[in-house]
Amino acid sequence: MNDKIRELVENCKSRISDLSNMAAAELQKIKSESLGKNSELTNLLKSMRDIPAEERPRFGQMVNEARKLIEEAFADAERKMKEKTLRDKLEKERVDITLPCDNAVQGRGHLHPITLVADEIMDIFKGLGFEVLEGPEIETDYYCFEALNIPKNHPARDMQDTFYITDNILLRTHTSPNQVRVMEKKQPPIKMLCPGKVYRSDDDASHSPMFHQIEGLVVDKHITLCDLQGTLEAFAQALFDEKTKTRFRPSFFPFTEPSVEVDLTCSNCGGKGCKLCKGTGWIEVLGAGMVHPKVLENCGISSEKYTGYAFGMGLERIAMIKYGIPNIKLFFENDARFLKQFR
Ligand code: PHE
Repeated sequence: MNDKIRELVENCKSRISDLSNMAAAELQKIKSESLGKNSELTNLLKSMRDIPAEERPRFGQMVNEARKLIEEAFADAERKMKEKTLRDKLEKERVDITLPCDNAVQGRGHLHPITLVADEIMDIFKGLGFEVLEGPEIETDYYCFEALNIPKNHPARDMQDTFYITDNILLRTHTSPNQVRVMEKKQPPIKMLCPGKVYRSDDDASHSPMFHQIEGLVVDKHITLCDLQGTLEAFAQALFDEKTKTRFRPSFFPFTEPSVEVDLTCSNCGGKGCKLCKGTGWIEVLGAGMVHPKVLENCGISSEKYTGYAFGMGLERIAMIKYGIPNIKLFFENDARFLKQFR
């Protein structure tokens, strides 16, 4: 290789020896200047015709060698540049996943107060031997009403303002229909809890169109109203405190006979009378009664052989009493200032 050609190669190499501040486009530009149509190398090839014929093959070989060296130098530079780009990108986008997160911003989640109350109530009843069985929220008229001794067009239907989907299909107004479903499939002894969402066309400070219920059902031989009172008192004392007393007042539900409203001594004043209990010392918390013989028979359970009790409570109401919450809407607005208090 003559000096001129060697210099040409060295020159090209030195232009791309430092890639640290070079953009990819610039490298391509230098490459076409070094190897393209107007490059010195191409000009050398063109000048072959001025060279004596006997020297041409040697000269051609030298130029080709030079081209190969230059091409290799560029291939090497391009590879290095690709690696560097990747390295820079990885460095720039690096995330240290071991850093502690900012708790003030991120905050740790926790359960909704309704879930907390539901879990607490279910735990108490599970300790008393109840099993938890859930059922559908979209129900038929039969399971929601008819099987529970509430015939079509009977005035007792007015007790539950209902969202109908068709004449025959509706959003369940209580969780009792699942008790019917269970009794149809299973002979006593039955000892079950039925939690879940229910729907009624009701809306004010203590009613919401969607709310949560937990209902209980016990069917066996020799079950009496005393079993009901004993169970509910044990439950109330576990949920509030051991001084809590229960009081039964006569009431009416089509599916129980006799039926009762159950009051608890006020958890706020202990029965002396305060704003929460409107001065009476008692708070109404649930409905209950002995399962109507017709309901048992509707489900294929002998009312001669078996008796049972049932009760139902609204979870929002229990939570409002337990935590002193004045408006049911607070549970569903998802205001973090409210929810945070139950951490
Ligand atoms: N299902 C009734 C309601 O939602 C509550 C209840 C259940 C009452 C069981 C008595 C016995 O209104």
